[in-house]
Amino acid sequence: MRAIASINGECLPLAEARVPALDRGFLFGDAVYEVIRVYRGKPFLFEEHLARLRRSLDAIRLPYTDFDGLRQRVLRVIREHGFQEAIVYIQITRGSDVSRHHVFPEHPVPLEFFYVEEFHDHLEAQREHGVRVITHPDWRWQRCDIKSTNLLPNVLAAQAAREAGAYEALLYLPDGTLLEGSRTSCFAVLGGKLLTAPAAPNILPGITRALVLRLARQQGVAVEERVFRVADLPHVTELFLTGTTSEILPIVQVDNQVIGNGQPGPITRSLQRAYRQLVDAL
Ligand SMILES: Cc1ncc(COP(=O)(O)O)c(C=O)c1O
Repeated sequence: MRAIASINGECLPLAEARVPALDRGFLFGDAVYEVIRVYRGKPFLFEEHLARLRRSLDAIRLPYTDFDGLRQRVLRVIREHGFQEAIVYIQITRGSDVSRHHVFPEHPVPLEFFYVEEFHDHLEAQREHGVRVITHPDWRWQRCDIKSTNLLPNVLAAQAAREAGAYEALLYLPDGTLLEGSRTSCFAVLGGKLLTAPAAPNILPGITRALVLRLARQQGVAVEERVFRVADLPHVTELFLTGTTSEILPIVQVDNQVIGNGQPGPITRSLQRAYRQLVDAL
């Protein structure tokens, strides 16, 4: 797949991109990231993603401020290399020190890495018919609102889903509260209301989640940012995932529990249509 990287502003093919072994992103996961979808050469919700990147950087006290330069560099790579359907991955790390120490370097020099890669969307059939997911314990830390590269619990949950032949793993707390997927946000329709876990330190505030909340309110759907639990699943009539590359993906089965009538429901469908209209109008 065609992919162009940029490291501190220097462009090269992604396969040739290298970072120093002492980079703190590599040693400690001392880094934050973003993933942005590009449709027909245009980044979708770019400013929202940059704003979240800024919040993540502030939260880990990483002194990177060149958002205007970053925006221009990303747009230039998309334009000059003629990317149409693509994703942009951006990662900012706290850079390297002369040796490995947990504490911040005295004068950190952040490393800016991004790449733009062609994206082939293989999810069309799943968006139409829905996917199966599994539940998995949430083994993450207490600041999941920071989009950090510390993704080992997410990786293990995603792998468990893959090995179960499922698309995603829904992460649950010891009391059965369902928070979100390993790489997606999650919504349920319960008692006629659209529910999703409230923005709090235990979930990532998804950019797609925020958009879907807005679209649902515009459509007059009753929306509540409130948690739902594994025990609610037999009563849930619709369930879906949201994310930058997943978009809006209906869930028709969780573990052995069929959701609703086993088909994507009307609220999900109507939100999918509204999402598509926005993308088409980009
Ligand atoms: C844990 C988690 N939740 C939700 C999402 C979806 O966020 P967004 O809609 O911004 O892609 C992601 C995306 O990577 C994620 O990692």
